[in-house]
Amino acid sequence: MLIVRKIQEMQSLANDFRKEKKIGFVPTMGFLHEGHLSLVRRSKEMADLTVVSIFVNPIQFGPNEDFERYPRDFERDRTLLEKENVDVLFYPQIEEMYPEGYRTYVKVTEIEDYLCGRTRKGHFQGVATVVAKLFNIVKPHFAFFGEKDYQQLKIIERMVKDLNMDVTIVACPTVREEDGLAMSSRNSYLSPDERRKALNIYGALKRVQSLFMEGEKNVAKLVEEARRFLASVEGLEIEYISIVDCETLKDLEFVEESGLLAIACWIGKTRLIDNIVLRRDKR
Ligand code: PAJ
Repeated sequence: MLIVRKIQEMQSLANDFRKEKKIGFVPTMGFLHEGHLSLVRRSKEMADLTVVSIFVNPIQFGPNEDFERYPRDFERDRTLLEKENVDVLFYPQIEEMYPEGYRTYVKVTEIEDYLCGRTRKGHFQGVATVVAKLFNIVKPHFAFFGEKDYQQLKIIERMVKDLNMDVTIVACPTVREEDGLAMSSRNSYLSPDERRKALNIYGALKRVQSLFMEGEKNVAKLVEEARRFLASVEGLEIEYISIVDCETLKDLEFVEESGLLAIACWIGKTRLIDNIVLRRDKR
């Protein structure tokens, strides 16, 4: 596996690759888990050559967020990626990505205002900006994103469409621990007790899903059920429970064919998100 730290070197490699190969790209912030690796495997299936980036992007973290303490373990990540036969690991430095005088940001309006955007001001602008930069550096044909971060996925899809970027976005399903907790680098913050509490997020999603499958369409009632479920978990603070249109991310009043049920909550100092698509079986 080639490890590339310089932007220019990555760009000239990408130019060479593109002549005869399809490039697959998996952007990450590292501290890799099976969720990330599922994206890598998808890329290995679809593309001739897979590039993974590891970059903890400072501009997508708010001033009081966890940029400093975000988990990092380059050697472990490197070994994991080598095992997956990744071709190139792009691992840039902050000073090269955002040198003195850096002024340009990508803002995907409206979609970024809902769900996590309500509390994480500027977060999705930071995400869209770094992903646009990474696309210009890695020049991929395909880029892989997890449905775990559903709003991020929709924002990237919109950006690619609106800015006519020549890359196909591939959405990949959420990978969960055996008991259902969505995998996340931030799970490493959880104490064993908090880890047990965190499982209730998935419990709430499943509870609402079964109510929906029994025929309940009323969003207020569905959300209330999740609220009640989570209220009993001591030390868990709900940030939002929303059911929104799967494309526009606007609040729904009733779920007819489908809707996205998304939850964000705090367990101690750790913010966790998860979601599930509610969809009626058309049989
Ligand atoms: P990060 O949180 O490291 O996630 C990298 C990619 O892995 C994202 O597309 C995310 O949705 C996906 N992912 C994370 N957990 C997953 C899971 N349990 N199942 C499936 N996919 C999962 O998301 C980011 O980094 C950053 O915002 C980034 C896009 C790299 C821009 O900085």
